[in-house]
Amino acid sequence: MSVVALVPAAGSGQRLGADVPKAFVTVGGRALLRHAVDRLLGAGVDRVVVAVPADQLTRAQELLGSRASIVAGGVDRVASVSAALWAVGDDAEVILVHDAARAFAPESMIRGVIGAVRNGAAAVVPVLPVTDTVRSLHPDGSVAGIVDRDVLRIVQTPQGFSPAVLRRAHAGAGASESAADGITDDAGLVEALGIPVTTVPGDRSAFKITTPADLADAQRLMAPAPFAVPDLRVGTGIDVHPIESGRPCWMAGLEFPGVDGCSGHSDGDVAAHAICDALLSASGLGDLGAVFGTDDPRWAAASGAMLLTEVLRRLHDAGFSVVNAAVQVIANTPRLSTRRREAERVLSAVLGAPVSVAGTTADGLGLTGRGEGRAATATALLVATSAR
Ligand code: CTP
Ligand code: MG
Repeated sequence: MSVVALVPAAGSGQRLGADVPKAFVTVGGRALLRHAVDRLLGAGVDRVVVAVPADQLTRAQELLGSRASIVAGGVDRVASVSAALWAVGDDAEVILVHDAARAFAPESMIRGVIGAVRNGAAAVVPVLPVTDTVRSLHPDGSVAGIVDRDVLRIVQTPQGFSPAVLRRAHAGAGASESAADGITDDAGLVEALGIPVTTVPGDRSAFKITTPADLADAQRLMAPAPFAVPDLRVGTGIDVHPIESGRPCWMAGLEFPGVDGCSGHSDGDVAAHAICDALLSASGLGDLGAVFGTDDPRWAAASGAMLLTEVLRRLHDAGFSVVNAAVQVIANTPRLSTRRREAERVLSAVLGAPVSVAGTTADGLGLTGRGEGRAATATALLVATSAR
């Protein structure tokens, strides 16, 4: 027992006026016919039969591969559906008829139609209410009167049928006869047999692409959402301190026992100070000297973590969050390699954002190479959340 969908796609699309038949016009890089078939398959349809213009069989085959069987359509929509119906076997439980031109019918709506037939409806159409005021006209174009819109509905596809009912409807009406009677869809043929047609809610996205304006709507519908560029700010910082014999060594938030530390204001942690400067640089809030003041006694013995915490507080006050920071230490000692991960954990915890730590030497050159001092360079990335 299976769900089969017939897709009439054999029209030329005169009103659209494209240089290919309407079903092969692309939106978002894909033909309308392919969009329609993919949505049907996504909604649980087991088999699709597509009717295309007789000279488009190969093109349709290339477009759809194994997704659908392809037949040549007829002179009008009813004839095209009849042609597709011939290709359906006896095992169908539900047959849908769905215009390729309604390429963006949502899967939820397609499932609703299938469900209604499974629940016993002989024929189901998705409908939308009419929200505009509607007037009828005399043949000369003058207004005849207002039409009660409450009893009107806009009819969409897919329409769903019990296979026996759809077969009877198509057996009863030749294409040209039905066209003469003004019947353009399959539910119309079923009504002509006196069989009641029920409704399920339609969906605006299942609109029929008929004119160039409709195609423009479809292009907008499928356009990727605009990429919002966050307000990111990058900053750099550098710090250098001389080594002082007998002073405790603090580097990247860790103490290194048995290694001489750096002199200078606070604990001489060049890595933490470089990160502070990078954060301040990214935020435009100044630099370490300006914020803490080398002669301010409050920060005289401050640890790197304390300075970072204070910088972070100022950034948050100014409407920034830290995305990440990276620091590279240039020094002969201490050996960072064995404690690198530990340093990253400590600094990341202080900033609440990833901090990466790397180390290098200056190959014996300059003040760091000769072991007179240590340096660090850092980069920080901030995102402005409510920066003024
Ligand atoms: N259709 C069909 N066979 C036809 C005519 C129409 O299968 N002989 C299909 C169309 O391909 C479309 C659906 O029926 O998927 C609804 O028809 P419509 O929107 O009118 O498409 P066209 O007939 O192609 O467009 P136009 O009337 O502007 O030429
Ligand atoms: Mg048409």
